[in-house]
Amino acid sequence: MNRTDYDKVIERAVEIQKEWRNIPAPGRGDLIRVFGNELRDVIMPIGNAIMKDAKKIRAEAVGEVQEAIDMCDFAVGLSRQLYGLTIQSERPQHKLQEIYNPLGVVGVITAFNFPCAVWAWNHCLAMVCGNSVVWKGSPKAKNVTEICKKSWDRAVEKTFPEPWFKFKDLLQVVDGDKAEAEWMADDSRINLLSATGSTAMGKALAPRVSARMGKALYELGGNNGMIVSDKANIDLAVRGIVFGAVGTAGQRCTTLRRLIVHESVYEDLMSKLKPAYASLPVGDNFEESTLVGPLINQESVDRMQSVLEQAKAKGYTVHGGDVVEGCSVRPAIVEATEQCDLIKTETFAPILYVLKYSDLDEAINIHNAVPQGLSSCIFTDSVQEAELFTSAIGSDCGIVNINIGPSGAEIGGAFGGEKDTGGGRESGSDAWKQYMRRSTVTINYGKSLPLAQGIKFGD
Ligand code: UN1
Repeated sequence: MNRTDYDKVIERAVEIQKEWRNIPAPGRGDLIRVFGNELRDVIMPIGNAIMKDAKKIRAEAVGEVQEAIDMCDFAVGLSRQLYGLTIQSERPQHKLQEIYNPLGVVGVITAFNFPCAVWAWNHCLAMVCGNSVVWKGSPKAKNVTEICKKSWDRAVEKTFPEPWFKFKDLLQVVDGDKAEAEWMADDSRINLLSATGSTAMGKALAPRVSARMGKALYELGGNNGMIVSDKANIDLAVRGIVFGAVGTAGQRCTTLRRLIVHESVYEDLMSKLKPAYASLPVGDNFEESTLVGPLINQESVDRMQSVLEQAKAKGYTVHGGDVVEGCSVRPAIVEATEQCDLIKTETFAPILYVLKYSDLDEAINIHNAVPQGLSSCIFTDSVQEAELFTSAIGSDCGIVNINIGPSGAEIGGAFGGEKDTGGGRESGSDAWKQYMRRSTVTINYGKSLPLAQGIKFGD
């Protein structure tokens, strides 16, 4: 997109938000309700676009649109619940309040792997909070961006009669890649930049946003681990591992990448995991029986192969990982002996590193000793172990699961992670607060002017 067109988009976003902010939040929710119903009508066409662009299997593609629908339902309810606190004042006849107002323009940058749902997390909250959205979808998922924008426009047509069709412009698309992302990061007309992608991308954008004291919400790389305790239900763990590590062909930010297994159950677990991996249907994602579709492009395949070569060079045992056809790759299990730098780096492909531990402290240390902090889990039937993992001395991640793999979160909780993952929280819980400006309001309904902290000033 050229710079002149980009500037027009931002100017329009600023202008239309000024009208939108005057619609009461429940009225904004009405539009999101219609949008959710619109998505229900086009769940299959959007699913198909996701299959085409992101190369997901049908169940996962449709599941992604469902995630966007769930987000609409959540946002509709939220449109009547943008609550602020009322706080007791220390001064007589005074009241403290928190009032939430819209931020303005929200810039949303999304990745190829969740081209619809992650946009919807941001879009639905931004809308009910009274903002306009400028969305730079992934250049690898243009069909998805286009069909989502069309669905939005149809929802606006159904909700508002003329002359309110202008609210279509509450969502505008920026077609572009790195340069456009940098424009958005530098642009002080964008009041919140929500960016999903690699840690490298986040680290490139963050100084730009900070230089203008801008607000940002990052959802970056993960290097998600699972501890399998000697007190775990191993069959349950195997199911959790397979979906977590090979779902979306290992291309979720929440994908399971590191397995930390108690030495006493290691052999048992591996004897079940290896055949499960070997029998995975890998190939064309449009084929109904396929569970593992292709990687996004040849570059990803090459990167995966190169990482597996490096793992072999370190003396690790590699199972699978071979190219089946085109960009379809059999997921790999790598039995490692130490958590080296290779393992600490996120490779966006289905590679599962397996490590052994002997006591839980050691397992948690291994678990937390990576730069990323998105999702984590433990399989154990011990209450003590499970609770410990969620405690101050447990997992250092934003998502902590017990007897569930690290991926496939529901929208109701806040989604995001610590450390190199960027610290942002999206979707459920109180993530909406990031899309609003909080004012602390002090009201004096008395006839004198007492000062806080008991200060006497000339009286
Ligand atoms: C992502 O990969 O960027 O929890 C998002 C999950 C999905 C979202 C993944 N609900 O795996």
